[in-house]
Amino acid sequence: MLKKLLTPFRKFFHGVFGLQYKLERYSLGLAVAIIIAGSIGGAVEIAPLFTIDETVEDVPDMRVYTPLEQAGRDIYIREGCYTCHSQMIRTLRDEVDRYGPYSLAVESKYDHPHLWGSKRTGPDLARVGGKYSDAWHFAHLYYPRDVVPDSVMPAYRWLARRNVDLDDLPQRLETLRRVGVPYTDEMIANAVADARGQVAPDSALAEGLIERYGEATTIRNFDGQPGVLTEMDAIIAYMQVLGRLVDINATAPTLAEE
Ligand code: HEC
Repeated sequence: MLKKLLTPFRKFFHGVFGLQYKLERYSLGLAVAIIIAGSIGGAVEIAPLFTIDETVEDVPDMRVYTPLEQAGRDIYIREGCYTCHSQMIRTLRDEVDRYGPYSLAVESKYDHPHLWGSKRTGPDLARVGGKYSDAWHFAHLYYPRDVVPDSVMPAYRWLARRNVDLDDLPQRLETLRRVGVPYTDEMIANAVADARGQVAPDSALAEGLIERYGEATTIRNFDGQPGVLTEMDAIIAYMQVLGRLVDINATAPTLAEE
């Protein structure tokens, strides 16, 4: 009975592998077959790129990261936060319910490298901006178990006492411009002043920052320590802008609203 049931499968495999055995004896035939199989795989990957202009909506008023946010992003990469946190909300209902509207391709158009990730030891951070106060982030990064008793996230205390490395900030923006991020000459020339301005509300430096990056820029003393520009300032500024470079509610419908 079972033998009879399996007969069609056996025939199928004999057919396929029989062809393979035959081909293997003729190197030219095998080479041609490999090229055919390989180009099918290639076409499947390349074809969608031809429709990229229609599939990826642009958002014209999306701003670039400020120098301080970009410095925070670099620290985030240096500390390996991306090994535990993804930054991409998938189009699945449970993800949208938990994290908010799913991520759009356009939201990472200025991210070099992108930090979508595929491993989540901790939660996705694509829309964590505005979810917590600066003080919460400070306490959490300083010692996660002070605010989330069961947390397995490591403590990052040194961020609170290390100064942000400002020396090569203009060059870093310049490098990003070369790969397509629209930083202007003025933004690059004022990078250091703008980084300082972002933690000094109502100062002349802050005015320059707003002029270049827009009214919606968050200007606060993120780490609560006056007079110093620490890595904590930078990484909290970055946390607070995640998911807020575009007005997502105006841009895309959410699964949750459907
Ligand atoms: C070893 C894995 C690991 C690493 C590395 C890690 N985290 Fe976490 N993170 C977690 C876990 C687990 C949680 C959930 C528990 C908690 O809130 O502490 C979390 C939570 C968070 C949250 C709160 C998210 C939310 O929506 O509640 C933020 C923000 C965060 N991490 C930022 C960072 C930053 C910034 C870094 C790098 C400086 C970092 N994490 C590195 C594991 C990690």
